[in-house]
Amino acid sequence: MALVTTTEMFKKAYDGGYAIGAFNVNNMEIVQGIADAAIELRSPVILQVSAGARKYAKHNYLIKLVEAVLSEAPDLPIALHLDHGADFEICKSCIDGGFTSVMIDCSSKPFDENIAETKKVVEYAHSKGVVVEAELGTLAGIEDDVKVEAGCASYTRPEEVEEFVDRTGCDSLAIAIGTSHGAYKFKPGTNPQLRFDVLHEVEKKLPGFPIVLHGASSVPQQFVKTINENGGSLKDAIGVPEDQLREAARSAVCKINIDSDLRLAMTAGVRQVLVEKPDAFDPREYLKAGRANVKSIVAHKITDVLGSAGKA
Ligand code: G3H
Ligand code: 13P
Ligand code: ZN
Repeated sequence: MALVTTTEMFKKAYDGGYAIGAFNVNNMEIVQGIADAAIELRSPVILQVSAGARKYAKHNYLIKLVEAVLSEAPDLPIALHLDHGADFEICKSCIDGGFTSVMIDCSSKPFDENIAETKKVVEYAHSKGVVVEAELGTLAGIEDDVKVEAGCASYTRPEEVEEFVDRTGCDSLAIAIGTSHGAYKFKPGTNPQLRFDVLHEVEKKLPGFPIVLHGASSVPQQFVKTINENGGSLKDAIGVPEDQLREAARSAVCKINIDSDLRLAMTAGVRQVLVEKPDAFDPREYLKAGRANVKSIVAHKITDVLGSAGKA
């Protein structure tokens, strides 16, 4: 099987009450850790690439890594997705370069501008058989070079979603319900609570339509502890409680984005080896530990949070 779009996987996820994990990839070990888990658990998977990842690893290298996964598991549904495409040009370049799905993120622009740019991407993407994710509402946190302060974040307005989807023709919609990017999502001592009321309003307005959740890392405390015990300094790193992600996965949310958890997994493995074995200098030794952690956290997400195991 070649790389697939998300159309079929989202339809099955919507009907089956589970979600597909969209994991950010930046290097070979991360790709392999995700792939090992998805292949072993027979889970469909979305591998997503940010502009920063393209800059770091280069488009062609990332494509070849993802193609290598396909050669390991030719029948596994795998989509290659552009994460947070800032404008038409980067979306076009990914569409022309082999991606099966792109996100156009004009969520920080005024409503009509967001619609105009999204529509332009949708028209081009659909003419090439590629699907498009768009966004309404603004998440806090850092995406590439754009930092949105918590005070400037805004929840999605359910009364806007129908018009947005109708006018743009997008295939899925990312919404803001209280998640944010990065490892510091909530203040210590507070009770993290996503706005499920907003999600349910959106669901009612768009029956059958796939919703996307960004900023959905849960910031596993075992990795934070390992990092801090091995020379790191991550203070008050707090993520989205997994029971709330499970609840989201059972709803219209068909795609759940996870990046920070993989970064924590990789860093915990690397730090642990370097501290425990100060004489180690073979990158394979410490990257192997990072890769194993990535595999274990992805396996946990697929099995215990997303519900996508065995759905390939
Ligand atoms: O949404 C943001 C993702 O975590 C990608 O982060 O732009 O640093 O690659 P990045
Ligand atoms: P996290 O920072 O919560 O992993 O979010 C990742 C994301 O939304 C990528 O688009
Ligand atoms: Zn995101």
